[in-house]
Parts: sequence; structure tokens; C-alpha cells
Amino acid sequence: MASVFKEIYNQSIKGPEKFWQEISEDIFWFKKPIQILNKDKPPFYKWFCDGKTNTCYNALDIHIDQGRGDKTALIYDSPITGNKKKFTYNELKGKVSKFASALKNQGITKGDRVIIYMPMIPEAVIAMLACGRIGAIHSVVFGGFASNELASRIDDSKAKLVVTASCGFEPGRTVEYKPLVDEALKLASHKPEKIILYQRSGHEVKLNAPKEISWDESLSNAQDMDCVEMNANDFAYILYTSGTTGIPKGIVRDIGGHIVALKWTMKNIYNIDTDDIWWSASDIGWIVGHSYIVYAPLFKGCTTVLFEGKPVGTPDAGAFWKIISDYKVKSLFTAPTAFRAIKKEDPEGKFFSKYDLSSFESLFLAGERADPDTIKWAETLLKVPVIDHWWQTETSWAISSNCTGIEMQKTKYGSACKAVPGYDVKVLKSDSSIAKPNEMGDIVVKLPLPPGTFPTLWNADERYKKTYMTNYEGYYQTYDAGHIDDDGYIWIMSRTDDIINVAGHRLSTGAIEEVLSEHQSVAECAVLGIADKLKGQLPIGLVVLKAGVKKDNEAISKECVQMVRDKIGPVAAFKVAIVIKRLPKTRSGKILRGTIRKIADKEEYKMPATIDDPAILSEIEEDLRKNNILK
Ligand code: COA
Ligand code: AMP
Repeated sequence: MASVFKEIYNQSIKGPEKFWQEISEDIFWFKKPIQILNKDKPPFYKWFCDGKTNTCYNALDIHIDQGRGDKTALIYDSPITGNKKKFTYNELKGKVSKFASALKNQGITKGDRVIIYMPMIPEAVIAMLACGRIGAIHSVVFGGFASNELASRIDDSKAKLVVTASCGFEPGRTVEYKPLVDEALKLASHKPEKIILYQRSGHEVKLNAPKEISWDESLSNAQDMDCVEMNANDFAYILYTSGTTGIPKGIVRDIGGHIVALKWTMKNIYNIDTDDIWWSASDIGWIVGHSYIVYAPLFKGCTTVLFEGKPVGTPDAGAFWKIISDYKVKSLFTAPTAFRAIKKEDPEGKFFSKYDLSSFESLFLAGERADPDTIKWAETLLKVPVIDHWWQTETSWAISSNCTGIEMQKTKYGSACKAVPGYDVKVLKSDSSIAKPNEMGDIVVKLPLPPGTFPTLWNADERYKKTYMTNYEGYYQTYDAGHIDDDGYIWIMSRTDDIINVAGHRLSTGAIEEVLSEHQSVAECAVLGIADKLKGQLPIGLVVLKAGVKKDNEAISKECVQMVRDKIGPVAAFKVAIVIKRLPKTRSGKILRGTIRKIADKEEYKMPATIDDPAILSEIEEDLRKNNILK
């Protein structure tokens, strides 16, 4: 029997314009696009360039127009605070429309940038959608980033306004946002004109009017606001992600392609219809949160869950099962690390047996490689398909997946399944030739990328071209390496740059090294990601001190750890800095980070032919052992 999936996939690759034109009929346009793909200036492809639409209209108004205003759009559940709330599409539109007006009253218009630095509360989603309503470009900054990271995003985006909250809650710790914002504003050279702060009940903070106003005050003169007409290629948002230096890359998303592609994915990849309850347990500060807590489920018109909690500790390892059972969730999307955390606390699934999960049909994992052990454990416990799929901030939706709404594929443990329609994925060797099946190489996607992916970087066309589109002419370089097997299954094995993946969070070791180098006693350093059973990878730092430094090594290590926490944020989970005598290098002076990582992970390694002094490797091994890294 012919495979439906194969047929649809082939159509998307052979005739992308026809394929996406038909899909684009499913969204609301003020003006339908005539030109589906503009190829005038490769690699800067533009989808639906003469169309006019609006992100917020497609997320809210369209469903009300279609008579589904009383359907639940958003369920907020916060086991940390005990708060729960449901919003229908009518209610959410009412709130978004008013906050859009509040933003307008503060001088925000089409194209202005608004930073959103908030915990997982409904107001964060409202702020995102309100920006879309008036054509402002939001840039959400994850709450676990420190002031320095916030400042670099304010500077790069030249944000006119910051929306924040008085605090967030982490298990056992309250995250005070106001001092973090104050510090960021001191550090930033660009100064936003206004701050709107949502006061969390019982945690109100003092504001300095007129520059700083509360969320409630901002609403005092707010009227209802209609959606403005936007060009399909205007930007909906900027989401910064780690680059190879401390300067983050501003991934931008254009409006039209984003709506078209994301709406399509809900049914075709995730098998979610308008009547379904969908839950993505991530954070709105990450791409998974942008696409699958907020945008895709609302474009589809289904119900999305906003969960302010953790897989364990809020209050226990049954938190996920409780949400699924309470709200009759059909499918959950999260990072493998969340399941590793649950497995660690409750290996036998004792909490699981307390809940009714009869509504639950599938679990999707992404953000890092899903190890087969975790997948099999989840399958045995949940008795539903567990699907590993692969994607990136750059693409905003899956490059490879089991497209469960088209045709279920069999699971191959360790593989992120097949290329999704729209993505022509290849493995290339260093000479740019195409690798044979099962042969390792750089994973690339043939241009043009499908709609919804990044058309460029914020104010950095050259960086976009040079970083992603130059090494392999005509292809987008994903910076992931792996292979494609005989059945077309994609196996993502490692990153080819200095990015590591800590609990599904993407971090640059180069950026951490930049921070350590600023320590006055540090002469040079290397940061590497070592394997960790819970978080996938953890960063460790090796630092060499300047000659003549008399300070105690332990004190220096502590200062280094604190500096990374202060400059990058707690999310870096940087807890180990080891003072060593010297770093192993090649004769040309390149630090052998790969070899050190292999030693730390107890992997076999070959003595690099170009090593300057092989004896250093034994010294490093000894240092790692002394510091309990090599157990
Ligand atoms: N605001 C402020 N701080 C935050 C934060 C936020 N939104 N999110 C995390 N942090 C802090 C944590 O409090 C912690 O700080 P600490 O060093 O003071 O303890 C630090 O950042 C590391 O946090 P985290 O990665 O969450 O580790 P953890 O040990 O607290 O929890 C897991 C481990 C597995 C439970 C957790 O990583 C998790 O839920 N992962 C899911 C992964 C995920 O959602 N990935 C998103 C991409 S899909
Ligand atoms: P981010 O941009 O933060 O979503 O991180 C994207 C990176 O995470 C990818 O380039 C991969 O390195 C990694 N990643 C995401 N999903 C997977 C997956 N399913 N398997 C392996 N690696 C993944």
C-alpha cells in the first residue's frame, strides 16, 4: 500500500509553492497572498510576501468569528501558588485587546520592540498576543537569565518598553524581577522608555512613576483595540538564542509563514483538533513555549495549558499526571529531562497509578536527544506512543518527527524519525558531497526553508548568511551532526559548534568562557559540557590562573561559579570550576576541549597527533578525579 505520508512529503518537496499555497487557505488573511514564494535574493526567501494578516487575529478573533468564543482557550494551573484559572476565547480576546490598548497608550506602535520578562502567568501570554494585535514585535526573555543577558537583549532589540512582573516562583526560591530589571537597565546602553510591571498578589513592589507603572494602572484608560493589518513578512517576534559568542542571535519570525506553518503542524504532526486539550510543559521564554504553549494551539483553536510548575517538587513527581487527569489532556510535549526527573524520583510510577489518564494519547519529546532508556520507561508507564522529534529555535517547528496526524511511523529508539513535509534534509560530508545512508556528517536542509522558519537574524543579514548559509552553498546548516538511515530516519548525534544542551536549554560554552576570562585571576579557561544523567549535559569550567596569583583555589572557584550565575543566570546550572595548572593544546595553540570532554565522560579517545604536551592529559584526568567528576 502506498504511504500517505510519503506522498504528502514528496508533494511538499517537489512543489513547495503549491503545497503551502493550499495550506495557507486555512488561515485568516486581510489580503490573500498572490506571490507564494519570493526567490529574488537567496538565501533571503520570502513566503507569502504580498499577503496581509495579523497574528492575534488568527490566534483569537477568528475562532470567535467562527462561533467558538465560549470554548476554553487557555487553562492556567500553578501548583506553586495554588492558582488556577480558565479563559475562553472571548475572555482572552477581551484581556488582550485591552492590554494592546494599554501598550498603545504608552506609545507603542507597529514595529516597536517590547521585551517581556515574566514568569509563567497568563499576563505573559496576554502581553505576547497584545503585541501581535498592534503589530509590535515582542522579545520574550526567559526568567532564568540574569540582568546581563536581559541587558544585551534590550540593547540589540532597542526595546521601547519592558513588561515584567514583581516576581516568579521557583521551588524554594522567589525570583525578584524588579532588581534584575533595574540592574539590566543600568547595564544597557539603550534605555527603554517605560516599564509595565504586573504586581503578583502579596508580592507587590515599589514603582517609580512615571517611567514605571503597574499592569493595572496601564489598563486604566484602555479601550478595545482591533487587530492591525500587517504585511506577511513583518516580524512577529525576536527570540534570542545562544550564539558562539556572548552576543546572542536574534532569531526573527515573520508573521504570515508563522501562522500558516504552525497551524498546520497541530493536526499533521501532533494529531490535535480544535476540540482537543493540548499541553506543552515548557516555558514561554523558549521556542517550545512560543510555538506550542502560545501560538500553534491558539491558531488551531484548541485549548492550551499554561503550567507554572516543575515535573518534580511542585509538590511531587505526580504533578504531570495530575494536570493530564484534571484537564483531560490529549497530548503532552516536553523535554526528555523532565521525564528523567520524574523517573529518578518515582521509578516505579507510584504517583502515576493515582490518576486517571484515559484521555491521554501521546507524548512528544524534544529539545535534546531522547535517550532510549527514558523513552522505553515512559512507554511502559504511559502505554501510549512516545515520540522524539527534532527542532530548533531557528525553525520554530519540527524538522523531523513522526507525523502522527498523517500516518504513524514505527519507532526507532534513538532516532528523531523522518523529515517533516517542507524540510528537504540531507547529510553532507566536509567536501559538501552527500553522505551515503548511515554515513555521519553535517545535517543540513536544502533551501528554501519552509514557512515559519527564520527569514533572517534581527538587524544582522550578514551574520545570518555567514553563520548558516555559507559553509554549504544552497543549504541551511543546522549545526547538528548525525546520519540518515536506509529507511529515511534521522539520527541526531551531536552539535558541531560550542553549544551544549542543559536540561533542554541551549547554552554556549563560549559565552561561559567569556565570563570566566573576566575573572581577574584567570589567565585562560575551557568550558565543556559533560554527560549528566538528569540534565543531559552539564557545563564544567577548567581555569588556569595568572602567574603569581596567591589567592586560595577554592575561593577562586566559588567566585567563578558566582560570576556565571550573575552574568548568564541560574539556568546555566554552572556549579563546577576547577583550577588546573595548564590546558592541553595543539601545537598551534588550540585548546583540546573535545579530548578533555571524552576524558571526563570516560569515553575512549585517541591521543591527538598535534598535541603539544601529552603529559597534560594525565594531569587533567587526575584533577577531574580529585573533583569527583571522574567517578
Ligand atoms: N526563572 C528563574 N530561575 C529559573 C527559571 C525561571 N523561569 N527556570 C529555572 N530557573 C533556575 C532554577 O531555579 C535553578 O536555580 P538554582 O540553581 O538556584 O537551583 C536553575 O535555574 C536551573 O534550573 P533547572 O534547569 O530548572 O534545574 P532544576 O535542577 O531546578 O530542575 C528539572 C531540573 C529537570 C526539573 C528542570 O530542568 C525541568 O523542568 N526541565 C524541563 C525542561 C524544559 O522545560 N525545557 C525547555 C525546553 S523544551
Ligand atoms: P533550541 O534552539 O534551544 O530548541 O535547541 C535546538 C538544539 O537542541 C538542536 O540543534 C539540537 O542540538 C537539540 N535538539 C532538539 N531536539 C532534539 C532531538 N529530538 N534530538 C536531538 N537533539 C535535539
